[in-house]
Amino acid sequence: MIIGDIYLSKSNTNIKQIKKQFPYIKTICKLSGISGEFRKPKIKRLFGDSTITTHREHGISYNLDVSKVMFSQGNHFEKRRLMNLVKPNETVVDMFAGIGYFTLPIAKKVKQIYAIEKNTESYNFLEQNIRQNYLSNVTAIKGDCRQQKLGKIADRIIMGYFPGTKKFLPAALKLAKENCIIHYHELGKNEKEIIKQLPKNVEILKIRKVKSYSPNKNHYVIDFKL
Ligand SMILES: C[S@@+](CC[C@H](N)C(=O)[O-])C[C@H]1O[C@@H](n2cnc3c(N)ncnc32)[C@H](O)[C@@H]1O
Repeated sequence: MIIGDIYLSKSNTNIKQIKKQFPYIKTICKLSGISGEFRKPKIKRLFGDSTITTHREHGISYNLDVSKVMFSQGNHFEKRRLMNLVKPNETVVDMFAGIGYFTLPIAKKVKQIYAIEKNTESYNFLEQNIRQNYLSNVTAIKGDCRQQKLGKIADRIIMGYFPGTKKFLPAALKLAKENCIIHYHELGKNEKEIIKQLPKNVEILKIRKVKSYSPNKNHYVIDFKL
């Protein structure tokens, strides 16, 4: 995959061929996994000097260091979908903001966004990206989304962190206004497995497979209304 001017490969790579096919690529890296609470990538630099780049997507520029924070390209369509769903009068909480994957593309279309991120490295890029995209309605919060005392402010909540999304639901419910819409991302064999985790009496608005994750697990997003 290509992020900004960096080529990230999951398999062994023919450097010469990549340089020929993509002459603008400045760095080539091998990505051998993503792990831990902060979804830190395991990267080996094969060619070039810098792992810092600017990736452009949906009219937004994302600065990031591919050796320190992940960038999920599989969520490209999901970002566009969210951009078309949000409403101008909404207050949104992005509980796992990262470098602003979801926050930045929707910011111009809503009233206010609170973007919470626990990892300092991602948070620093998030702050930089908010400034770089001239967004004045995004409040970046550094810390654990379960520890925030913002009150019931959210018309919409994005829970883009899995597996184990369920353990963050109590925190989401504390942030949610009446009729709040939650975008609940989780891995599962099928959608039924994930629906079982949701609170009772919610209205399911949409179930979408975002991508295949492993031979028997898919990444789903379930939109539900409280
Ligand atoms: C999977 S990444 C974000 C991916 C992004 N949604 C995308 O589409 O590519 C999840 C982020 O949540 C952060 N995170 C993990 N636990 C957290 C917590 N308890 N509170 C806030 N952020 C957390 C991680 O550091 C990481 O940056």
